Amino acid sequence: MTDLAFQKCISPRCGATYGIDEVRVECSVCGNLLDVVYDWDRAKPPASLKWFEQKWTRRHEPLCFSGVWRFYELLPFAPPSQVVTIGEGQTLLQSAPSVAAYVGLNNSGLYLQYEGMNPSGSFKDNGMSAAFTHARTIGANRAACASTGNTSASLAAYCSVTKLMRAVIFVGSGKISYGKLSQALDYGALTVQIAGDFDDAMARVKEASRELGIYLVNSVNPFRLEGQKTIMYRVLEALRWEVPDWIVVPGGNLGNSSAFGKAFIELKEIGLIDRIPRLAVINAAGANTLHELYERRGLRWNKGLPAEETSTGYFGELDAGGKRASTIASAIEINRPVNLTKCLRALEACDGVVREVTDQEIMDAKAQVGAGGLGCEPASAASVAGARKLRAEGIIGVDERVVCILTGHQLKDPTATVAYHTTDQDKFNEVLGSRGVKRAAYANRAVAVPNDLDEIIKAIHLYG
Ligand code: F0G
Repeated sequence: MTDLAFQKCISPRCGATYGIDEVRVECSVCGNLLDVVYDWDRAKPPASLKWFEQKWTRRHEPLCFSGVWRFYELLPFAPPSQVVTIGEGQTLLQSAPSVAAYVGLNNSGLYLQYEGMNPSGSFKDNGMSAAFTHARTIGANRAACASTGNTSASLAAYCSVTKLMRAVIFVGSGKISYGKLSQALDYGALTVQIAGDFDDAMARVKEASRELGIYLVNSVNPFRLEGQKTIMYRVLEALRWEVPDWIVVPGGNLGNSSAFGKAFIELKEIGLIDRIPRLAVINAAGANTLHELYERRGLRWNKGLPAEETSTGYFGELDAGGKRASTIASAIEINRPVNLTKCLRALEACDGVVREVTDQEIMDAKAQVGAGGLGCEPASAASVAGARKLRAEGIIGVDERVVCILTGHQLKDPTATVAYHTTDQDKFNEVLGSRGVKRAAYANRAVAVPNDLDEIIKAIHLYG
């Protein structure tokens, strides 16, 4: 471990501190979340973000190749010799004019940060490399998570490649897409299918890992979020260190939004940026806890003392009504986001807004991303659908520079994609109709032709 960092309870009323080599997912005094905090005076980060460019010429070194660890100086909680990398963070910031038109922005106003290019196909690898680094320094040999599919795929991949730990994953039965389930199985993770949903799996994995002393890699682990900060560093890097106007991100367990907020708070504090972009967190309408609490019930960070009765009251209502999260965007099908409080802090720091989008809006936006970019899974497209909504409301201006985070690869959930584009009404209804999706406005239907060259040529003339 380095002596440049420690862990600290996020509640200013408590502020308890813990050593960097302690394994905790909450404050033992008050139960709040923990931060990794740095002594920047001693850590001596570079004087300008441009300094990081010298790492580009040293790509043969794993720590400079990794899109997480080339920013080591901004997350120096472990010595470089202990860092775990499997080549995460080789991602693209793609300018997408046709998606910009769909959102209602100027031609060059929209960028898609494509995190699907990570080794396991989602942004989770950014955080997993940091959690594994911490786990390695404390000598853990088993790691667990609850997941809607991407955290588990990432954990399983890091275990299979590094052999540092054995993976135990908890998933809701029938709740994750086959693409993601296939990854966990193929990578050899112990896969526990709980008769319940993500919120159930999350509660159980916390208990089981406490009981069995297993290292927990969900985003309640503060080290995970240190890795996810680097998504924002790469966005800035791709924009030649210019701060965009907006970051738009889907919200599930709220780890990403929390990490982005921390990244910007720290960069500003160190003096590496002079302004913070605005943050929009987008919920699926069927899993809209943050939207409900932030936009409708007025829950705020409130200098670290959010009105707890607002969230506990809401969760009580969910329980009383037997209300479960339900959306085609299975990655964000979550009603009890574990990082809620940290996300409130991020929204405060970034003058944030929260919106909810329907499954119809998500699937239409997804088709637009596919037709005008590298494609993504349904949850990721919530960011584009949310940007469109905020643009229509006039909250995002037509001239603004907007970065939507595409959190997961297009091939993570082909069932939803094929159902959207299909001509088979039964298939459409089975997969999408039950979610309230009625139209496939941007469907690219396959053309059925006989096995006959003349007919094939005719079809190409007709539709090509
Ligand atoms: N997008 C994708 C593709 C995800 O997999 C997730 C979360 C999110 C967005 C939401 O991010 O939780 O940081 O707000 N997936 C988790 C999982 C819950 O288990 O894979 P968040």
